[in-house]
Amino acid sequence: MKRPTENPAPSRRAPRVLAIESSCDETACAIVEGLEVRSSVIATQIEVHADFGGIVPELASRHHLSAVIPVIESALKDAGISSIAAEIDAIAVTRGPGLVGALLVGVQVGRGLAAATGLPLLGIHHMEGHLFSAFIGDSERQSRPFAPHLALLVSGGHSELVDVRGLGDYRILGATRDDAVGEAFDKVAKMVGLGYPGGPVIDRLATEGDATAITFPRAMLRDRKNLEFSFSGLKTAVMVHLEEHGQPNSRAELADLCASFQAAVVDVLVTKTRRARARIGRDRVHVVGGVSANRGLRAAIEAAGLEDSFSVAVPPLRYCGDNAAMIAAAGAARFAVLKSAPPEVSVLASIALDDPAMELPL
Ligand code: KG4
Ligand code: ZN
Repeated sequence: MKRPTENPAPSRRAPRVLAIESSCDETACAIVEGLEVRSSVIATQIEVHADFGGIVPELASRHHLSAVIPVIESALKDAGISSIAAEIDAIAVTRGPGLVGALLVGVQVGRGLAAATGLPLLGIHHMEGHLFSAFIGDSERQSRPFAPHLALLVSGGHSELVDVRGLGDYRILGATRDDAVGEAFDKVAKMVGLGYPGGPVIDRLATEGDATAITFPRAMLRDRKNLEFSFSGLKTAVMVHLEEHGQPNSRAELADLCASFQAAVVDVLVTKTRRARARIGRDRVHVVGGVSANRGLRAAIEAAGLEDSFSVAVPPLRYCGDNAAMIAAAGAARFAVLKSAPPEVSVLASIALDDPAMELPL
C-alpha cells in the first residue's frame, strides 16, 4: 500500500485529484488535472427542499448518502478512469464550513477511498474552493496567477471581501453582520412566493423591472472605512413595503420589486468592493460564490472595473454554484505544494477562511 509521503505527483503533469463536495444541498464529484476539469458531476437536491422554502439538514444528509456513490461512479466514467489507485494522485473533500451531517457524508466517503487506495486525503475549505472557481473552465482562466487578487465571495452562507495574498494566505477585509447575500435573495423570494432558491428567479425577473421603482435602503455605506455588510435591514424594508402596499398584483409590479431589491444589493456590494480595492491597491477583482451568477452584479462590477481601471473575473456559470471541480482544483493546488496530506481530516462546521489552520506549511 502506498503511504502519502511516498506518493508525489508525477512531475510530467499537474496533480490529478478526485474531489467530493457535500456541504449543503449539492452532492458533487469531480476529477481535475491541475486546473483542467476532466469531469464534474452534480446531483442537486433543490426539489427535495423546495417545498420547505429552505434546506432541511436531516433530509440533506440522507440524500447525500444515497447520491454520493452514483455521483462518484459517474465522474469516474466521464473522465475515463477505471482505477482510482492507479490513475489519481490525491482525494480532496470539503471539510467545512457547512452542515455537519452533510459534510460528514463526503468526508467519510473520502476517508474510505483514501484508506482503500492508499492515496492522500486533503480537507478543503468550501470558500477556498469558490476562490478557485474563477480559474477553471478555459485556458485563459487557467493561465492567470492565483494571487494576488481581491475576492468578493457571495453565497448562500457567506458574504465577504477577501484579500487573496497567496494559497492559504487570506485576509478578510469585511464580512456580513447578519444575512448572507444569497440568504437575502432567498428570503425575499419566499416573501413574494417565488420559491427556493430565490436568487435565480429574482435575477430573471429583475431584467424585466424598473430598478428605480422602489427606493430600498443601502446599509452601511456612510462610513467609507467600514467594509462590513448588513442585509437584514433591506429584508425588513421589503417586508414593510409588502405590508404597506400588499403583494404585487401583476408580473410588472413583481418585476419592479425584484429589480429594486437587486439594485440595492448590487449597489452595496459594488461600492464596498471598489472601496476595498482602492484601499489595498489590487488590480484584479474576482466575484465568486453562488450569487456571482447574478446578471445585475456581473454587469455592475464590469462597469466599475472599466471606470476604476481594474480587471474583473467571474466563474463560468456552471461553476458559480456549488460543485466539486472547484474543490478538486483547490486540492490540486495544495497537493502541488504539499506533495502529501495531513494524516487526519475532520469536519469543521464553521471555519473562517483566515483561520490559521488554512495556512500552508512554509
Ligand atoms: O455558493 P452556493 O451555490 O451555495 C453556498 O455555498 O451557499 O450559493 C447559493 C446561493 C443561494 O442563496 C442562491 O439563491 C444564490 O446563491 N444564487 C443567486 C443566483 N444564483 C444563485 N443569487 C442571485 N442571483 C443569481 N443568479
Ligand atoms: Zn458554496
